[in-house]
Amino acid sequence: MKPTRRNFIKKVTAASALVATESIARPFASIPNLTKISPNDKIRIATIGMGIQGHFDTRAALKSSSAVELVAAADLYDGRLQRVKETFGASVFTTRDYREILARPDVDAVLVVTPDHWHDHITKDALKAGKHVYCEKPMVHHIDEGLSVIDAWKKSGKTMQVGSQRISGAAFQEARRLLDAGDIGEINYIESNNDRFGAIGAWNYSIPPDASPETCDWDRFLGDAPKTPFDAKHFFRWRNYREYGTGVAGDLFVHLITGVHYVTRSMGPDRIFSSGQLSYWNDGRNVPDVLVSILDYPKTDTQSQFQMVLRVNFANAGSIKNLTRIIGTEGQIEFSENNLIVTKKKLPKAPGYGNYDSFFTFPENVQKDFVKQYETQYPADTRQAEPIKEMRFDSPKEDDQHANHFANFFENIQKGSQGTIEDPVFAFRAAGPVLACNESYFDKKTVYWDPVEMKKVKRKK
Ligand SMILES: NC(=O)c1ccc[n+]([C@@H]2O[C@H](COP(=O)([O-])OP(=O)(O)OC[C@H]3O[C@@H](n4cnc5c(N)ncnc54)[C@H](O)[C@@H]3O)[C@@H](O)[C@H]2O)c1
Repeated sequence: MKPTRRNFIKKVTAASALVATESIARPFASIPNLTKISPNDKIRIATIGMGIQGHFDTRAALKSSSAVELVAAADLYDGRLQRVKETFGASVFTTRDYREILARPDVDAVLVVTPDHWHDHITKDALKAGKHVYCEKPMVHHIDEGLSVIDAWKKSGKTMQVGSQRISGAAFQEARRLLDAGDIGEINYIESNNDRFGAIGAWNYSIPPDASPETCDWDRFLGDAPKTPFDAKHFFRWRNYREYGTGVAGDLFVHLITGVHYVTRSMGPDRIFSSGQLSYWNDGRNVPDVLVSILDYPKTDTQSQFQMVLRVNFANAGSIKNLTRIIGTEGQIEFSENNLIVTKKKLPKAPGYGNYDSFFTFPENVQKDFVKQYETQYPADTRQAEPIKEMRFDSPKEDDQHANHFANFFENIQKGSQGTIEDPVFAFRAAGPVLACNESYFDKKTVYWDPVEMKKVKRKK
């Protein structure tokens, strides 16, 4: 059967039910009881990694539910521990050692907001310690870490959410609804970009003047990264180095692909190729500042074949328009984080003739015969295209995707459900391919990926 959008929707409910069942109910030696937290109980959280996003995440978590309370925080720069007390109250317990937080019985859930190379270690330790986990994106630093996080989550019986919060925003919810309704026909191409031009946008964040081996826990920061002497640039601008970060692909493509997977319900691509360069920010970083990747999505029972092109350009001194465009056979959806525009366009049955066409090159008598034949074959009612329809959706002003994303996490904790809108299976189906984008760039090769099993595979014949 041709994978039409409408067929797809009929099947998708069954398919996603299957995925959900598979991801949660696969038999394990022991699945601990998931202790519900009643809606009347407080959910006590601790943030591990109190840098920029640690603050934003903590605020969003507190805003999302009056049941949430911050009890502890960990960070490796003393100034940030001091700042936690200034911002969230002197009673918040602070430490450099996240294991002290995991040992606390008064912590129900942790927010893992450290550099990428710590995500898998802290997440697994936290699940093992019986904490619910909200982990920032990308879920893992390396492709081969993904399945072990999924396994740890399933075994833990705890709720886990990953932090590409845009999918909890109204524009993405609306885009998904429109695609489900088959509004733009069969998808054949998607493009999404995040361009910037500026030092802060290119990750050269401010370094505090008191940064030193005394105020920063450098050894702990390094974790599984190669041992090097203290370097404040590495500590505070870790995104610029592959040893700790995941480059523009892991940092930014991951938001783009997560959004696309959410609205299309796709499991992912099977072939990935990248090209890029370090064009402008020659400040010692070892990751590209321009990266373009092509991801091939295979035809399946639930989706048509399409290509997705992702781009980040940190040296775009031209005009910048960051958006995602999903193009189908009957229109397109163009959306940013706050709004979307759907354009519906359907071709008439009759192909037309004239203008830049061979018609005028025919001799006159042949042109007359052509017109006669054409009019018989295509009656007047098949010659009119449907008028182009355009609809715009603006997210309500009060829509807060970040708080919504946390609300989803906490609601699932309260319900006793392990799954969330961005659980580790969904999250790794986004993280795996973007980490493969890096692998393609650095190793100059095409990467083949099994989107169902979430594994790299050898080239298909
Ligand atoms: N969802 C989003 O929109 C979004 C936005 C920005 C950042 N992020 C993610 O958030 C994470 C943090 O980014 P950031 O911009 O806040 O970085 P940051 O450098 O500002 O903060 C990271 C903090 O983690 C601390 N840290 C490092 N290792 C630690 C450890 N082992 N234990 C405790 N603390 C540790 C550091 O001291 C630092 O203060 C990254 O994974 C990033 O991808 C997500």
